[in-house]
Amino acid sequence: MTTAPAPQTALRTILGAEGLLTADADCAPFLVDQLQRYHGRTLGVALPRSTAEVAQVLALCNSARIGVVPQGGNTGYCGGATPDESGTQLVLSLRGLNRVRSVDAAGYSLVAEAGCLLVQVQDAAAAAQRLFPLSLGSEGSCQIGGNLSTNAGGTAVLRYGMMRDLVLGLEVVLADGRVLDTLTSLRKDNTGYDIKSLFLGAEGTLGVITAASLKLFPQQQVHATALAAVADVAAAVRLLAQLRESSGDRVSSFELIPRIAVDLAARHIEGVSDPLPGGHEWYVLCELSAARAAEPLDTVLQEALAAAHESGLVRDAVLCHSERERLALWKLRESIPQAQRREGASLRHDISVPVGALPQFMARAVPWVGAHVPQGRLVAYGHVGDGNLHFNLNQAAGTAPAELLAQAPRVRRGIHDMVQEFGGSFSAEHGIGQSKVAELERYAPPLELELMRAIKHAFDPNGILNPGKVLR
Ligand code: FAD
Ligand code: LAC
Ligand code: ZN
Repeated sequence: MTTAPAPQTALRTILGAEGLLTADADCAPFLVDQLQRYHGRTLGVALPRSTAEVAQVLALCNSARIGVVPQGGNTGYCGGATPDESGTQLVLSLRGLNRVRSVDAAGYSLVAEAGCLLVQVQDAAAAAQRLFPLSLGSEGSCQIGGNLSTNAGGTAVLRYGMMRDLVLGLEVVLADGRVLDTLTSLRKDNTGYDIKSLFLGAEGTLGVITAASLKLFPQQQVHATALAAVADVAAAVRLLAQLRESSGDRVSSFELIPRIAVDLAARHIEGVSDPLPGGHEWYVLCELSAARAAEPLDTVLQEALAAAHESGLVRDAVLCHSERERLALWKLRESIPQAQRREGASLRHDISVPVGALPQFMARAVPWVGAHVPQGRLVAYGHVGDGNLHFNLNQAAGTAPAELLAQAPRVRRGIHDMVQEFGGSFSAEHGIGQSKVAELERYAPPLELELMRAIKHAFDPNGILNPGKVLR
């Protein structure tokens, strides 16, 4: 009697001995998410080096009905890149597909493979005097394929949109191993359904992205950056509206930072200190930028903040006078997630509501947390200019981590129900992964879910692509 060869044998035939990790120690880093909430097992970690190898791996897995979990930089917040605990799924790491294939400075586009780090793509654009504007705290370790698959947001969405808005074309390997090539640099193309857009934000459930054609922009030659203290989120939203107007729409970032986040960052992150002592409750990090070096953005920002101070909207502000000061402010902002982790247990909610509704949302949600979650302290921060806050809670003083974590389902329900009432989203930029599948089922309109399931079936009839993620 002959037995079928182990999948590892067939995978090694495609990838070579070096291209498949199976030893526990080698696989371990791929089997846990960065928040260490999910721990999986695997039959191996595939490390393809080309689109052709990805295609062969998927064709094999499709015939053998092996679940495939694509993994980029493994910086995602929803456990989307972690396999389940069965040990029967294959992790497919894209890190070997890491070439910037071409840069077209005149056409303002570039083609990068999925395993390129985000910072690598930013650097390749800069080397051609262009800007690739996606900007995340994780940009040194997340990959373009992960950014595309989560439709990442970050701190420049206000000006440039989310990852989806930065895509011209994709190269994707389908579940059965066929390669869909839409790697165009066309700006206009209305030829039927926009198939590529389905892969953006699909979190590896519809295909494996192997390369992308991305939009570039003029490099920003001048920045003006300030930290302004405001009374509350309502003041922040009004300040943004005023700044957009008075700067001729030069605002490129507008990030909310609460007092507690400044304290946490100063306590846990080396080199971070409070840039504006005075005990204010809320701050916004605002940045104007322009491609023309001659634009007097410092003056524009200073005058706008002075006028806002005069009218009582801004309580105090500090303007950056050097790149060093600017980077220090950004370090404060970008280190909030890390500072929260070092502080202890936390509950995370990646919510958005229409920007104009944020003040009313906060007026309801903040007292609700105060009244119903004594185990937690609110750390609500983030992309106020997009109506997207990381409405997180850290454990309160004297509370054990487990006491806060035990509240997670109740708190999630309370906050997400409120978000729903405000016409908002329970997943603004981080995705669904495995942590929010039940939330999607609860909040997505049934017809939308039905269409998602139909799309999933059409692209992946055998259900091998990232099983159990987004949909179950
Ligand atoms: P992974 O975590 O490896 O994977 C994410 C999902 O995409 C998984 O479902 C995976 O299966 C799938 N996937 C990965 N590559 C592919 C591919 N090539 N083809 C198909 N599917 C694929 N996110 C934001 O949106 N905004 C922020 O401001 C932000 N800031 C962050 C700051 C920090 C400090 C950290 C740790 C994370 C932050 N994130 C942020 C979350 C995270 O960095 C993003 O979601 C990022 O886009 C994930 O990229 P990745 O390469 O790490 O993907
Ligand atoms: C941030 C991540 C958590 O904005 O999205 O810091
Ligand atoms: Zn964010």
